[in-house]
Amino acid sequence: MTDTINGLTVPEHIAIILDGNGRWAAKHNVPRAQGHKAGCETLEGIVEDCTRLGVRYLTVYAFSTENWKRSAEEVAALMQLFRFYVIKLVDIAMKNDIRVKMIGDISRFDSDIQKGILKVVDKTKDNEGMTFTFAVNYGGRDEIRRCIKKMSEEGMDMSLLTEQDISDHLDTSGIPDPDLLIRTSGELRVSNFMLWQIAYSEMYITDTLWPDFHREELEKAIIAYNKRNRRFGGR
Ligand code: IPE
Ligand code: IPE
Ligand code: MG
Repeated sequence: MTDTINGLTVPEHIAIILDGNGRWAAKHNVPRAQGHKAGCETLEGIVEDCTRLGVRYLTVYAFSTENWKRSAEEVAALMQLFRFYVIKLVDIAMKNDIRVKMIGDISRFDSDIQKGILKVVDKTKDNEGMTFTFAVNYGGRDEIRRCIKKMSEEGMDMSLLTEQDISDHLDTSGIPDPDLLIRTSGELRVSNFMLWQIAYSEMYITDTLWPDFHREELEKAIIAYNKRNRRFGGR
């Protein structure tokens, strides 16, 4: 199901690699943690903009399996932000009829953060508006590894394996593949995000730093998406 704005097709599923919080902080001469805080505020705005535009699925990459390599100070600042954000997300989601999902391995987080995540997912599970998926301690390779492990534990006959079986055992099971993949801050790479799911996603990369990515930037991405000719390997 797709909606339209000014005659434009709104992608059913938008996925975002939000990048550039650190560079935004450096540009404004503030600590990196400030950049992450600003990024969090931008995210709140984009979540609401996407619901208003009629996006059905929004997936956001907020913390990778590789981000633990950062300084203890930065990781602690990010954890503190998650701690508050998952609580705030309950209100944002209930107000906007959003169903929240989490992908990634949350078992490495402090137990109060894990509880907060489970709570927002459970409280919003019957909401019928946009599905907002938050990717934390997420890595595409780790997700595929866990998916294979799950299938093996279920005793599946691997000689009969289909692509659909894999899709059904990934964290994103039930969520369609992204139509549009946005990366902010100009890096030309996917950094281990949704390796299976982005096979045919349209990519939009902007130099805008994530904390500066607001509704106008989102609309630019949707306009660019509308100019693409999606062939899926066909003619
Ligand atoms: C994105 O911003 C947020 C996370 C990866 C947690 P960065 O922190 O990667 O910002 P840059 O790339 O250093 O500018
Ligand atoms: C990708 O950003 C991960 C997230 C946005 C969560 P990074 O800043 O970690 O990626 P690299 O290091 O530039 O590839
Ligand atoms: Mg980065």
